[in-house]
Amino acid sequence: MSEDRSNGYEGIADVYIAGRGTRALVGDSIGAAVVRAWAQAFSPGATVLDLGCGPGEPSTRILREAGLATYAVDASPAMVAAFRERFPGVPIEENTVEASTFFDRTFDGVLAWGLLFLLEPAAQALVIEKVARALNPGGRFLFTAPKEPVEWLDGMTDRPSRSLGAHTYERLLRDAGLTLVAEAEDDGENHYYFVEKAAGHVFVVAEGFGKRVIPKQSPFEFSIDAAGSLSLAVGDQRAIVVASDFSVDAAQSLTLAVADITEGPSWPLWWLQTGPYRVPLPEGWRAHASGFIDPSAFDLLGPDGSMIFVQTPQRTPGIDHMVGPGQRIVARGSLTTGEWVTVQYVHEGLSYAQRHARVEIGGRLAVVTLQCRQDALPLVEPVHAFLADAILGQ
Ligand SMILES: C[S@@+](CC[C@H](N)C(=O)[O-])C[C@H]1O[C@@H](n2cnc3c(N)ncnc32)[C@H](O)[C@@H]1O
Repeated sequence: MSEDRSNGYEGIADVYIAGRGTRALVGDSIGAAVVRAWAQAFSPGATVLDLGCGPGEPSTRILREAGLATYAVDASPAMVAAFRERFPGVPIEENTVEASTFFDRTFDGVLAWGLLFLLEPAAQALVIEKVARALNPGGRFLFTAPKEPVEWLDGMTDRPSRSLGAHTYERLLRDAGLTLVAEAEDDGENHYYFVEKAAGHVFVVAEGFGKRVIPKQSPFEFSIDAAGSLSLAVGDQRAIVVASDFSVDAAQSLTLAVADITEGPSWPLWWLQTGPYRVPLPEGWRAHASGFIDPSAFDLLGPDGSMIFVQTPQRTPGIDHMVGPGQRIVARGSLTTGEWVTVQYVHEGLSYAQRHARVEIGGRLAVVTLQCRQDALPLVEPVHAFLADAILGQ
């Protein structure tokens, strides 16, 4: 017999299918109401991946009833066979979620009901990262796992299960560029995590001087030279867009391989434009964007390893709570639309500083953070102050 990849579910598939997977019972089966409400918030035709789908009852059926294009994966051959019988023609892969080729595609939603806590912690983190990458901007992820960090033996398979707990899940999600927006409990005491991917962060374009420069590939870097020309680097290819009144067509012919150039706003600066905000690109700094949705849309890399990044989280702590363990506040002040604080800390014997500005832009909050060696602070602090004051919401 081949090795079990389903964390013991192949061995009890008959019992599981006869219980939860029986169509006559599905109306009342645990979790159905939560999954239905989640599914109905998608537009018809949206694509949703059901991870660890089991026999597809009730979740895949509910997703399909909501008019969604459903894909499913499960590692248990018996579960997959039961699924195929119920949902002929619905794409399903017999594979582990860790190795699923469906992660080569993108989805509007991903569901993992009763799955994540069956996996080892490293595999849980991996799946969260894969989900983050596979979700389209604005996409949603719903999964279940106990709220507290806990280990137990699965009631059906007798195999170890472990929840990493809400605190750790929130951190893993955030690191992957996702936001935990809500939690809920159902009648069967299953704890739900409602997760979203920001709708507008992927896009980083440079605008100014009547032009909009849109990178064609990622990762990429924008920078400006002393003459104000914009440089876009993609791998070893580079395009220079001169900040004079070159017509858009002339610039485009130079840069066709790595950028699209259209007409843009006539601002007398190059601005980095993302979905929720824009900031000027400071001279001597390089804006590096991975192209994926990261917690920040880009990192601005400056002298002596200094870095500035912008985040627009759903919830933003007060300025006094931006002090991490081992850090102490050394300066603070206010801005036109917010406040800033500078903290100092020692890492591996070296002194570092972080300067956080918490600003209100277009009805939401943004945090602009500078991180640098302590001795570089006087040099780079004015750039941070300038950016934090200049940032504009969309
Ligand atoms: C508790 S059942 C949940 C099934 C279904 N989501 C439901 O709502 O009834 C867990 C399912 O995850 C599958 N599974 C376990 N580990 C897996 C893995 N590493 N990759 C893919 N599927 C896995 C099992 O075969 C089983 O069908």
